[in-house]
This record gives sequence, structure tokens and C-alpha cells, in this order.
Amino acid sequence: MSPSSDSELSRLIEAAIRVTENAYIPYSHYPVGAALQAADGRVFTGCNVENASYPATICAERTALVKAVSEGARQFTTLVVATRDGGSPCGICRQMLSEFGVDVRVVLITLEGRIIHDTTLAALLPLNFTNDSLNLPDNGTR
Ligand code: THU
Repeated sequence: MSPSSDSELSRLIEAAIRVTENAYIPYSHYPVGAALQAADGRVFTGCNVENASYPATICAERTALVKAVSEGARQFTTLVVATRDGGSPCGICRQMLSEFGVDVRVVLITLEGRIIHDTTLAALLPLNFTNDSLNLPDNGTR
């Protein structure tokens, strides 16, 4: 993890707040915005997209992650998540993010940009399950 500079963090905070405007939340009315910075500097944003079949909903963090991976990014330095209360990423999002490493700064903020927690993915998901446990001949990654 190379911690974001103040100006990079400000940019991520702004992006995470802005993308909450796109949240599709007819059921929970709880907007979430995520801004994920890749090691190459690119920033990928995501919001939550809900569904009438509630479990089909995708969280903001995973939206940002799948956008990033589908654009070729696999190493991440910083994740900023914006919610009205500084809410924390759910377990599924923590696990999916950890696939690409837990050495990621995670900053949880309010919609006004107030920092509630400044932590790491390693701290949020200790003893995470990894593909090391699967004994794959080539570690299974491509
Ligand atoms: N949500 C996220 O986007 N990220 C999380 O980590 C927790 C929950 C969304 C899913 C749903 O649209 C709403 O918040 C309420 O659960």
C-alpha cells in the first residue's frame, strides 16, 4: 500500500461522494459511493444498484471493483466509501476486494466528506480466505 497523498485522497473523496448521485436505491434509500484507486493511478467509481429481487443487489464497492478488474486493474492502493453515516463495507465486498490483496487503505466518509474511519482492508478482514488454501498447481490466477 502506498498511502494516497492529500490531493489524491481529496480527489477520491470527491469522486466517492459524487457517484452516490447515481445510486439506484428504490428499496433501501441508502446511497453508497465508492472510489477505488489502482496502483497505476486510475480511479474507478461505483454505486449500489438494487433490484426488486433484493439479493441481486450489488454494493458500491463491488461495482467499483468489477469495473476496475474488467479494465485490467488488479492492484489497488486506496478505497474511499461514502455513506450518510460512514458505513463500513459488507463482508462480501471485503472478501471480493481481498482477492487482489489486503494491503489497501480504506477510508470511510460521510456524504459531507467527514472521515469516520481511516483503516486498511487487512484490519477489516483478518485471516481472510485466499486461494493459497486451494493448493492450485499454478496458484490458479491468470
Ligand atoms: N451497500 C453497499 O453498497 N455497500 C456495502 O458494503 C453495504 C451495503 C448497499 C447495498 C444496499 O443497496 C444498501 O446499501 C442497503 O443495504
